[in-house]
Amino acid sequence: MSLLPPSMSLTTPPPHRPVREIPGSYGWPLLGPISDRLDYYWFQKQDSFFKKRMEKYKSTVFRTNVPPSFPFFTKVNPNVIAVVDCKSFSHLFDMELVEKKDVLVGDFVPSLAFTGNIRVAAYLDTSEPQHSKVKNFCMDLLKGGSSIWVQELTSNLDILCDNIEASLSKSTPATYLFPLQQFLFTFLFKVITSMDPSLDPNIASSGYAMMNRWLALQLSPTISIGILQPLEEILLHSFPYPFFLVSQDYNNLYNFIKQHGKQVVEKGKTEFGLSEEEVIHNLLFTLGFNAYGGFSIFLPSLIEAIGNDSNGLQQRLRKEARETGGSTLSFNSVKEMELIQSVVYETLRFNPPVLLQYARARKDFQLSSHDSLFDVKKGELLCGYQKIAMRDPVVFDEPNRFIPDRFTKAKGGAELLNYLYWSNGPQSGTPSASNKQCAGKDYVTLTAALIVAYLFRRYDSIKGGAGSITALVKA
Ligand code: HEM
Repeated sequence: MSLLPPSMSLTTPPPHRPVREIPGSYGWPLLGPISDRLDYYWFQKQDSFFKKRMEKYKSTVFRTNVPPSFPFFTKVNPNVIAVVDCKSFSHLFDMELVEKKDVLVGDFVPSLAFTGNIRVAAYLDTSEPQHSKVKNFCMDLLKGGSSIWVQELTSNLDILCDNIEASLSKSTPATYLFPLQQFLFTFLFKVITSMDPSLDPNIASSGYAMMNRWLALQLSPTISIGILQPLEEILLHSFPYPFFLVSQDYNNLYNFIKQHGKQVVEKGKTEFGLSEEEVIHNLLFTLGFNAYGGFSIFLPSLIEAIGNDSNGLQQRLRKEARETGGSTLSFNSVKEMELIQSVVYETLRFNPPVLLQYARARKDFQLSSHDSLFDVKKGELLCGYQKIAMRDPVVFDEPNRFIPDRFTKAKGGAELLNYLYWSNGPQSGTPSASNKQCAGKDYVTLTAALIVAYLFRRYDSIKGGAGSITALVKA
């Protein structure tokens, strides 16, 4: 029997819901967007920005503006329909109802110069033939990389942990963000492109920093980094930075793949009908923006969820990591580790790494929340805020509590996976050329589970947070 109410059930027909006007407003031209932008980044911050409007309008579907806007983003339309419950959020995945053309970070599109003047897969809609080619290519690369995945992961984790232990022996706490990024860069480069960054000493030592700069410049209008206001508004959110500031970094990475990745480029050309430029720019985007960017946000929150625990979670993780899955870690061994997988899922629910997803109405349609229906017009932009949707009280019991076993069988976890949306689709779904779900979805959760298992085979306990480790007790 379903644990969920009829409004969310996949098998029971939905109850009758009234049609309601979408509440909220875009305000006066210029003034509305700028006032919302200041709330979003400064006076309220992202979480309360959405929460306050949801409470004010007594609705999980409402109109608002999201940045960037005024003064130098004149071509960007900040008007969106926010969707912040699991039911309304799920419309973002329905490719019959919505299109995902150039909406990766909203109506704003960073200059194409950042991707070699090519619209890479993440900006392509499923109706564009190039999307299938690139997505299939990407999934093929992941499949190819799976044979070396676990071995590369553990050997690079050995290096990362040795580094952190060495830093801890000198000073406490040991900050790990840059060593973690260096680890991610090397590991992901190897498993996705089959190339070893150490072939070029400059890429090996500074490749991750080049990626960071390239990412930061593209994303600066849409993210907050906590600089003292109003400096952040003036310096980061008022105008887009030009590509030329990071062109050398990007060209270094591009040329590295061009020189050392002949095999992967050839595969993209002959088996997937892509040009050399399309292969390399898409590889860099998938590797740098999707994979490296996603893991750089997700792993610190996973370490924090575990490293802050004082309720005996670590003992249970240790027991499971050591007593199940055989002596050598593999994709299959972590599939036996139910608690570890559940902790990974719960971290993705509690702190979704990519907070916002956008999609544009392909046609007029009726959007439903748990209790109402709303008329959406063709061309309107939907903006899903994951952090609130993933704490939907209709779906998740005690939504504001981190419950490590929430996704285990005993707790009805299999059904809840239908409502875990971090990958721009349900965790029970399958990424394909006909949808926009993260191509790396299963690799992400299995890799995170492997990392937790590795850590608890190596250590008895880990203390630390999202940026640093304060104590490690070796097994
Ligand atoms: C923790 C790590 C990751 C997170 C949080 C993440 C998250 C996401 C999200 C939210 C999207 C959808 C964006 C949108 O359209 O709104 C996406 C798309 C995508 N991701 Fe991931 N991702 C991660 C890792 C990876 C990895 C390892 C790969 C593969 C190498 C990958 C490849 C892609 C690709 C190719 C797309 C575009 C899919 C399409 O256009 O159909 N991602 N990812």
